Amino acid sequence: MAVINFRCDWFVQLGANCPQNDRLAPRLTFYGDTDGGVIKLFIARSHNDSMWPSSSVMSNRGFGSRSSSMPQPSIFLLILVLTVYTSVNSASIPSERKRFPDAIIIGVKKCGTRALLEFLKLNSRIKAPGPEVHFFDKHYDLGYDWYREQMPVTNATDITIEKSPAYFIGKSVPERVYKMNPKMKLIVVVRNPVTRAISDYTQAATRKKRSLFTSKFEELVSCFNESHPSCQAGVNASWGAVRIGIYHRYLHRWLEYFPLHQMQFVDGERLITEPASQIRPVEKFLGLSPVVKKRDFIFDSVKKFPCIKKFNGTVHCLGKSKGRPHPKVSPATMRKLSDFYRTENEKFFNMINRRFNWL
Ligand code: A3P
Repeated sequence: MAVINFRCDWFVQLGANCPQNDRLAPRLTFYGDTDGGVIKLFIARSHNDSMWPSSSVMSNRGFGSRSSSMPQPSIFLLILVLTVYTSVNSASIPSERKRFPDAIIIGVKKCGTRALLEFLKLNSRIKAPGPEVHFFDKHYDLGYDWYREQMPVTNATDITIEKSPAYFIGKSVPERVYKMNPKMKLIVVVRNPVTRAISDYTQAATRKKRSLFTSKFEELVSCFNESHPSCQAGVNASWGAVRIGIYHRYLHRWLEYFPLHQMQFVDGERLITEPASQIRPVEKFLGLSPVVKKRDFIFDSVKKFPCIKKFNGTVHCLGKSKGRPHPKVSPATMRKLSDFYRTENEKFFNMINRRFNWL
């Protein structure tokens, strides 16, 4: 008796009508057996649908099925299975292929999402696409096949991750991720929202250097009209750089779909000062034995950030767009922002049942 597990999406070429997320699709289990020279295959899955008979039997003397109307693609599928079964007589399915992610770094923008991903990749079982994929926010219409195509080739024991920090604030993203995989693991790196706002501003200012981006951070933080509802404690809470740091507002939407235990939070401040201590819990969260160690990092005195120390002695730091020098912000503005975020941070900490020591 041999048991071969197939995933529905392998048979798309043959016309199989798989549920869009093959991870959601119940596995089809083919129980093969020989009986007096007759090969029998039993197909089993956990629930019925119009495409797949819940149970069918075939032999090399012909097809038989307990389903009254077996559509054509199913027959092709069974022929394929029979061919595989009889030619190799044991399962030898190539395991190297592209897979949907097991986990997503959903944000938060400018909190260290790139550093987190690069550091996680020190664990050779973790694989990720190079660029941000932006499937659930920008490219959703391209479909699940497109999404999977963006993923690296992995084998069955690898963990695939993608990171697109804009997901955290995207209104329809939590529902879309849930529809694709309600068991998706979510990783969220957060840092002191005051520093995050300055980092966000610095990035925007760098990008818009050639167009006239002359407003100072202080001016953008302050309210134009003190009586406007978006003006809170003298802070313009509607400015994107400030708004994204109100983490509980966005997390709230995610919690409507995903339980807290399916989320792993990383302290973006400690990711800078003690990266290994922040990577280990994420490795565990992903079901891996932690391998990333303190000795894998070296603090680069020029970049002023931790960089990866490779086993051959070379050092790999993140690119120029990560770890930019920030403009000087007046102590009064810093205080104003800290005061503004104090209550917002408390709401966030209560939401996740965890505190971060952000001053
Ligand atoms: P700054 O460039 O403003 O300092 P993200 O990858 O989400 O865009 O976050 C970028 C931020 O990651 C950087 O913002 C930097 O502060 C932080 N960071 C954390 N660890 C880093 C590292 N090892 N190298 C560079 N930047 C790092």
